Amino acid sequence: AVERTFSMIKPDATKRNLTGAITKMIEDAGLRVIASKRVWMSQREAEGFYAVHKDRPFFADLVAGMTSGPTVVQVLEGENAILKNREIMGATNPENAAEGTIRKTHALSIGENSVHGSDAPETAAEEITYWFSQTEIVG
Ligand code: CMP
Repeated sequence: AVERTFSMIKPDATKRNLTGAITKMIEDAGLRVIASKRVWMSQREAEGFYAVHKDRPFFADLVAGMTSGPTVVQVLEGENAILKNREIMGATNPENAAEGTIRKTHALSIGENSVHGSDAPETAAEEITYWFSQTEIVG
């Protein structure tokens, strides 16, 4: 089925001028960018977005990284978009990511792993709503 998923190009990647290179990998996989904007997250926005991780030992570092520069937030649409985007991102830790994936190609470490993508339909819907209004999404 045609699905929508939420994707972010994180500050470690935007700082290295990789917005286009990563978006091309997404498009080459057959996904369409139907919403996109560049944001500099506030502490509050980053904490709210990643609230599910608030008790994890890496939470403070995660929020610090996400507020350290611009992020490109996107909505992707396509056949099986949620799973497809996770496949092209590769494993969370770039050391474990498959050849040819975004994280294998571009990520620096588990904390600076260049991209985020929703892991399930429920989180995709929540994450899209967190960043976008309906009028910003043009399918
Ligand atoms: P992301 O998919 O954005 O979701 C949570 C993020 O926390 C994850 O990618 C990583 O960038 C970051 N993170 C940092 N350290 C860890 C860790 N030890 N385990 C999992 N995620 C981590």
